[in-house]
Amino acid sequence: MKYDNYLWWHKGVVYQIYPRSYKDSDGDGIGDLRGIIEKLDYIKNLGIDAVWISPIYPSPMADFGYDVSDYTGIHPMFGNMDDIDELLNEVHIRGMKLILDLVPNHSSDQHPWFLESRSSKDNPKRDWYIWKDPTPDGGPPNNWLSVFGGPGWEYDEKTGQYYYHAFLKEQPDLNWRNPEVQKAMFDVMRFWLEKGVDGFRVDVMWHMIKDDQFRNDPSNPEYEKGMNSYSRQIPAYSTDQDEVHDIVSKMRNVIDEYDERLLIGEIYLPVDKLVKYYGHENEEAHLPFNFQLLELPWNAAKIRTAISEYEGALPENGWPNWVLGNHDKSRIASRVGKEQAGNAAMLLLTLRGTPTLYYGDELGMEDVEISKDKIQDPQALNEPGVGRSRDPERTPMQWDDSENAGFTSGEPWLPLMVNYKELNVKKQWNKEDSMLQLHRRLLRIRTEEPALHIGDYVPVPSKGDILAYLRKYEQDEFLVVLNLGVSEEVFEPQLEWQGTVKISIQKDLEGQKLKNKITIAQNQGLLIKLDR
Ligand code: GLC
Ligand code: MG
Repeated sequence: MKYDNYLWWHKGVVYQIYPRSYKDSDGDGIGDLRGIIEKLDYIKNLGIDAVWISPIYPSPMADFGYDVSDYTGIHPMFGNMDDIDELLNEVHIRGMKLILDLVPNHSSDQHPWFLESRSSKDNPKRDWYIWKDPTPDGGPPNNWLSVFGGPGWEYDEKTGQYYYHAFLKEQPDLNWRNPEVQKAMFDVMRFWLEKGVDGFRVDVMWHMIKDDQFRNDPSNPEYEKGMNSYSRQIPAYSTDQDEVHDIVSKMRNVIDEYDERLLIGEIYLPVDKLVKYYGHENEEAHLPFNFQLLELPWNAAKIRTAISEYEGALPENGWPNWVLGNHDKSRIASRVGKEQAGNAAMLLLTLRGTPTLYYGDELGMEDVEISKDKIQDPQALNEPGVGRSRDPERTPMQWDDSENAGFTSGEPWLPLMVNYKELNVKKQWNKEDSMLQLHRRLLRIRTEEPALHIGDYVPVPSKGDILAYLRKYEQDEFLVVLNLGVSEEVFEPQLEWQGTVKISIQKDLEGQKLKNKITIAQNQGLLIKLDR
């Protein structure tokens, strides 16, 4: 593909904001749209190209906004329509893009559609959700489970049927086999696209269609005590059905009614199934989220194999992407340790494909331990001791060393990291050796060098804990060498090379000329521009 044919989302970097936790402008302890507007210069100067914000729609907040009660409104807690228009405008003025979260699989149980649907069996919206008769003994229609614990079916006294909810009972699943539901949600997409929103991250895309015969899910032979109850079964019939691909390509058609808009899918599936969401001819999602770095052990051999398998599985012209953190998973600095967080950033920002960076990871924020009485996340509250709380990775952004890290003048909805007086944007912005500096520099060089934003990926076989690869574009070549281990390693690839270190995690090597055989300290990572 010619350089000019690459679009903003091929070349750019996506930054995820969890709006409750970014910046509070009105002192209620919860982040909001005006708060995000205040911080756009920071985001731009960091080197970000596109901002994705988690849901900001009206919602009873049973799942913190992933239970939407009005798809074309703004929750007053976050602001109003003027605020989102202003946010969009200010994002565009700075040459960035804005991506909204779309939650089409389920609505809130307080959405007018569901209130109508549950009002009677012959209501015209009855079939907009998934209603089934009880079994003869009164039990749920089949064995499908809720991701958040317990059965996926909720009995409705008034009409004597069960409705299906893959998540909370406050999040009934819409029936995507119904053409009226499809039309309603496509119109929601158009509403935002007309405003100029640059794309959507589609929540739980692989859940949207379920087996039409409602067959029982098989049990999971790998289930062990202590795992969450959803792991008891393999969701073979309740997720990832073939017909979902028709839905995704219809969504893509809506996106393609407008110029250069982006469709991202949240999909937790193994690579062979994940890549199907590109479509045979790239007629489905532009970027089915690739979550492998969230789940793989921090092991060079395993990661190298995973990258190659993923690169090999991509359909022709399917563009790769990588995610290192999000609002559902432990923060990277906690998962791999502070010592390796720099290497993780270098990996994310030098791999081939669009990176998604989770707010706060650029500072090196870690999971914050939340005392039992302060837990907010329904995933943890529903299955105490078993369901993992997602609160630790959702704590407020740390802006400065004033009270509450400059996040709010009120009481923050989740506690802050104790070390925020040191670990905050203001202190770290210009500090040598800080994670923030490292991110700024990696983002800058990624933007400047075509080899890094669109170049080919070539693995460099290496031993021990070393993960190494080349990025190439025309005459330009970069070599990335990461020591993912805790001891010194010798890097001696079957390749003659010579170059200058542009960025090193431990800065001692920066600017040095290196060649062929080198020793690499523990936790060290190098981005080297090769001489040609
Ligand atoms: C997605 C969201 C998660 C939410 C769930 C249900 O996985 O990322 O936060 O709880 O969907 O909407
Ligand atoms: Mg607020």
